[in-house]
Amino acid sequence: MNTVPHAAPAPIASRPTMIEFRDVHKYYGDYHALRGINATIKAGEFFSLLGPSGCGKTTLLRTIAGFEDISSGAVLIDGKHMADVPANVRPTNMVFQSYAIFPHLTVEQNVGFGLRREGGTSAEKARRVEEALEMVGLKGYGKRAAHALSGGQRQRVALARALILKPKVLLLDEPLSALDKKMREQMQVELIRLQRQVGITFILVTHDQEEALVMSDRIAVMFEGQIAQLADPETLYRRPNSRQVANFIGVMNFLPARVLTEAAGRIAIDVQGLGQTEIDATQAPGAITGGETSVGFRPETLTMLYEGQTTTERETPGTIEEVVYYGDMTYYDVRLDGVDSPVRISMRNVFGRPVLDIGTRTRVAWSAGALVLFR
Ligand SMILES: Nc1ncnc2c1ncn2[C@@H]1O[C@H](COP(=O)(O)OP(=O)(O)O)[C@@H](O)[C@H]1O
Ligand SMILES: [Mg+2]
Repeated sequence: MNTVPHAAPAPIASRPTMIEFRDVHKYYGDYHALRGINATIKAGEFFSLLGPSGCGKTTLLRTIAGFEDISSGAVLIDGKHMADVPANVRPTNMVFQSYAIFPHLTVEQNVGFGLRREGGTSAEKARRVEEALEMVGLKGYGKRAAHALSGGQRQRVALARALILKPKVLLLDEPLSALDKKMREQMQVELIRLQRQVGITFILVTHDQEEALVMSDRIAVMFEGQIAQLADPETLYRRPNSRQVANFIGVMNFLPARVLTEAAGRIAIDVQGLGQTEIDATQAPGAITGGETSVGFRPETLTMLYEGQTTTERETPGTIEEVVYYGDMTYYDVRLDGVDSPVRISMRNVFGRPVLDIGTRTRVAWSAGALVLFR
């Protein structure tokens, strides 16, 4: 196995701040593209901006680079206000979705491009180019023509060219989205490894929730110019603070629910189909908005019980309405008795256990600890 030697990183919270957004607003004419961004990104963090197209991810990233002026608020890098600092002297570098490399130059000319104004001997520069190429897995490719490279290799060249300047912050705007699925997954792993190796703060823009979950220390989920939730991947997945965030990240089932009582950090609820149960207050991470309430639960937190199988969890009967077979997994849509719409259940396929048919009556095991209350 390939392992990268690195010291165990300090916990995120205890690291110094690298980027700070203070109530950042941005207008394009009348259009309010950033609507009060407040966030802190730590030194050495792999941070992602995640959200649907048009929510303001690229705009926010460009305010760090200095490619975009802000209308009000402040952006600080390493403790310094950036208002009067032009892009070319900021300690940042950017890698774009389109491979912004020069096709008529060689790989090493591309990577060394940013060094042309720096001092140092040509031997020293050649050594740095070689080092950067090795970092991105392109050792020995220096003399090749850039236009002859594959998409994945071009993106590595773009990475090497950005890293050779040793920025404090590397900004990545959907750098993998033009690659096919297999190459994208391979580059995800390599980017994580690279970030650990160089220890630079990486800020990644992506609309791909899986990519953000796989790669990030923390993720800011954005909708319409605002950060809806900022948390580590597990918290975002297990404790989304709104239905909108829950829907954007993975699959979430929802059932109508009513709050009965609330005391001493416990909330008693009545859920359609599941009946009365009690949850911890931490399972209701969102703001209280009043009105209709619902609970959410992920497909893998439910288990279909087979004939004769017993459980220590609660169980609810239902009927299988749809079966989708994925090889390693099967997704079942099950209509629980007394519920208006089916819930999705994902079951790992175990050898010797048959895939069940549509129409089968079943019992579904669930636990109150897996519920999230939205309100
Ligand atoms: N230069 C610009 N002029 C006017 N509107 C812009 C400009 N750049 C972006 N926008 C608008 O701002 C919003 C956010 O854009 P962007 O930050 O590129 O979103 P994302 O990267 O999340 O897809 C979009 O509605 C987009 O149309
Ligand atoms: Mg964008």
